[in-house]
Amino acid sequence: MFNKLSTRPLDIIHEYYDPGSRTYEILLRHGKLVAQKAMDAAKKVPHLNPDMNFIEEAALLHDIGIFQTDTPQLGCSGKYPYVCHGYLGRELLEKAGLPRHALVCERHLGVGISAEEIIKNGFPVPERDMIPLSVEEQVVCYADKFFSKDWTLIAKNNSEEEIIRVLESYGNGSAEKFKEWQMLFE
Ligand SMILES: [Fe+2]
Repeated sequence: MFNKLSTRPLDIIHEYYDPGSRTYEILLRHGKLVAQKAMDAAKKVPHLNPDMNFIEEAALLHDIGIFQTDTPQLGCSGKYPYVCHGYLGRELLEKAGLPRHALVCERHLGVGISAEEIIKNGFPVPERDMIPLSVEEQVVCYADKFFSKDWTLIAKNNSEEEIIRVLESYGNGSAEKFKEWQMLFE
């Protein structure tokens, strides 16, 4: 993988992250793990014609917004709460002329968040549905759940049991949606 990758995603990441920093290392390692898992998932649904090149690029870029958040454990000292990194990433990629990739950023939190849940939970993000719709948006969101970003470990693998336990704790049907994805993508 990656040998045919256009330099575009990396160029954009380099605009905002210092390649010598740990945050950059975490972002890129996480992005690559998510890209591989998302492409593996997409291979299970060839009838949906997933765009593999796009999945790889969007996976690398999906967390680009984290530097604008106040997340010291990832070396990020922005002013926004972490939950904002999805829509902030969308804004960055729209500015970069990548509106399709931008939607992957906005729609990858949890298994997607509805406008209703945003209002109910008082999340400090725009009140609109942030739910992965296209197969490409869905595989990146799905794959992302398997990998956490970690200052010490750089990347941490999450087992299916851990993922489901966390999603069940939300009590909003997220775990069921994840299980549906498992049937489709494994
Ligand atoms: Fe992620």
